[in-house]
Amino acid sequence: MDAFLVTGPSRLSGTVRAAGAKNAALPAMAAALLTDEPLVLEDAPDLADVKTMRTLLAGMGVSPRGSGATGLVLDASRVTSTEAPYDLVRTMRASILVLGPLLARFGEARVSLPGGCAIGVRPVDLHIMAMEALGARVAVEKGYIHAYVSRVGSRHGRLSGARIAFPTVTVTGTENVLLAAALAEGRTTIENAAREPEVADLARLLAAMGASVQGAGTSTITIEGIERLHGTRGVPHAILPDRIETGTYLAAGAITGGDVTVTNARPADLGSFLGALTAAGVDVSRGDGWVRAAAPEPLRATDVETAPHPGFPTDLQAQFLAMMTQARGTSRIVETIFENRFLHAGELVRLGADVRVEGRMATVHGPSRLQGAPVTASDLRASAALVLAGLAAEGPTRVRRIYHLDRGYAAMDHKLRSLGAAVERIPG
Ligand code: EPZ
Repeated sequence: MDAFLVTGPSRLSGTVRAAGAKNAALPAMAAALLTDEPLVLEDAPDLADVKTMRTLLAGMGVSPRGSGATGLVLDASRVTSTEAPYDLVRTMRASILVLGPLLARFGEARVSLPGGCAIGVRPVDLHIMAMEALGARVAVEKGYIHAYVSRVGSRHGRLSGARIAFPTVTVTGTENVLLAAALAEGRTTIENAAREPEVADLARLLAAMGASVQGAGTSTITIEGIERLHGTRGVPHAILPDRIETGTYLAAGAITGGDVTVTNARPADLGSFLGALTAAGVDVSRGDGWVRAAAPEPLRATDVETAPHPGFPTDLQAQFLAMMTQARGTSRIVETIFENRFLHAGELVRLGADVRVEGRMATVHGPSRLQGAPVTASDLRASAALVLAGLAAEGPTRVRRIYHLDRGYAAMDHKLRSLGAAVERIPG
């Protein structure tokens, strides 16, 4: 099990390119199950989660070839199984995204329940509710979701369009309905839909496959189901740049008092985060395909509250909290999406930060003089926050269990070194 050895303090400066987004690549890969023609995805990131989705699809008979750089080709013309096994699903919750497309094209699916997660209970009841609303019969037995659409004669039945009003905004829940409704009979309307850019990117792919989707990116989406979808037919689908990775490198520049530019970026996808950086005294500039954060002045304490897009992203909460340990004054960070997403706080305190957590709020007093120490990552974004704090700390910080980091950040050690950081991947 690898670790990162981060030696600080450093002042980052330079330019890095954002990769394709993990949270756009995973639903796009699941969309391959909707057609018997090849799907070509460009800029799919080189991440552990993308490899897991590849393995999951291959287990169903999908033949994946190529990779992000050359174009990932997914061919689901010979699907032999509609099962997503526990051993894979437990390593990546986003595996639930195969439920909708399997039901829509094959009329059946057997998908393991994802199980526990460090940041919260994260049930999938809304995914199940939505598939039932589209006409599927669903039973949960022995840790698996068994779902099917009643047969009509010898053929498996089709899902039927429906009105689905989510009580809570759910990103993959919205994506699962988009994937399923594209082949359903009739119209589906999703109310209180997630507005994340990754949802709109999936709708863009489905439209390129022949689907009829209106309103993606807003809280009301309408899909007119059709009989058959086609592949990308010579026009590869370029995966959206990763706004969370972009924000993470901007925060790395800010916490070190540096100056970092991220290219292949979409500043518009980061509105509320860039607003918070500016409120913290960071000099933010942006242009077509790039965004820059320079922090020559000491950071100012800033309050944030996470919310569904276009609110402050929960996936940048930990990185921003780490930044606030170096800001002057008291910051209050409220986490509204997940009930247990402050596991990084205790590890930051080990580095010398002053962070107190009560329920869904963390209070950060700063600036603290951080000192390098061994710390342990608990989840993907917490691990990024610990690396950022290590960049600002005096001496070596060993961040253990960086397999969490590898799930969502491609070659982070290389990218940080290109910005002047002292970061090494070492045996755990
Ligand atoms: C997506 O997870 C992202 N993952 C997460 O990113 C991200 O944190 C999250 O959206 C919120 O933005 C992917 O896109 C692969 P939700 P998802 O369903 O879809 C509750 C990262 O770091 N809920 O929007 O699983 C749920 O418990 C990851 O890259 C139900 O109650 O999140 C949570 O409180 C971490 N029942 C809230 O809704 C359900 O059936 C929002 O979760 C579904 C969700």
